[in-house]
Amino acid sequence: YAALPVEGVLSGLKVVITAGPTREAIDPVRFISNRSSGKMGYAVAEAAREAGATVVLVTGPVQIPTPAGIERVPVETADQMLAAVQKQVADADIFIAAAAVSDYKCSEVACQKIKKTSDNMTLALSRAPDVLATIGRSESPPFLVGFAAETENVEANALTKLNSKNLDMIAANKVGEGLAFDKDDNALTLYWRGGKQELTLNSKSALARQLVSVIAERYRSRGK
Ligand code: CTP
Ligand code: CA
Repeated sequence: YAALPVEGVLSGLKVVITAGPTREAIDPVRFISNRSSGKMGYAVAEAAREAGATVVLVTGPVQIPTPAGIERVPVETADQMLAAVQKQVADADIFIAAAAVSDYKCSEVACQKIKKTSDNMTLALSRAPDVLATIGRSESPPFLVGFAAETENVEANALTKLNSKNLDMIAANKVGEGLAFDKDDNALTLYWRGGKQELTLNSKSALARQLVSVIAERYRSRGK
């Protein structure tokens, strides 16, 4: 796959991609977030644009400049990401969820800065919306690609997510100590119903091109 050119394989298609972390406010000056750098999602956005797609990148806060030729929709919270994605996927052909969306948000966001009045404190959290699963449950979803960030049981967990979120493909990613998050390289295993493709350790940009060429192939053969 490494040598496959991606030019044109997605031409005429609209691709919506989420990238980066989300931030869930605790109070006006604090938030809950994660170690996602956004590098993988941005690399996928660039590869999809190279492949000729119209690309909309719904992005959490990251330290990456906006890639040329891509529409960037900045968001902070999981709720905002869901709203932006719902608006964008209506006429999209492919949705790729590369964002590390917060699974929980504060049940109540304090209006004022929380003071350290006691030795211990507990934050009450409630589930944030699952952006990808919500799109997966919609009436006529686009071709859906998820990522699965796992520290263990990578294949089993990825396949469970493929099925439970009604995905067409999932890119499984071993994360944890020294792996994936905030790195420039990564390795992925792609799964779809009845197929699997390993993408071995490579730069995130090379990996993104490989991912895009497999997505294009699966997209063209969907429903067959
Ligand atoms: N995802 C999402 N919205 C969320 C959580 C996850 O859109 N609130 C998407 C991610 O962008 C990714 C996929 O769902 O494409 C899987 O994310 P992951 O965190 O690996 O799995 P979860 O379903 O959140 O399950 P868990 O964290 O418990 O493993
Ligand atoms: Ca999660």
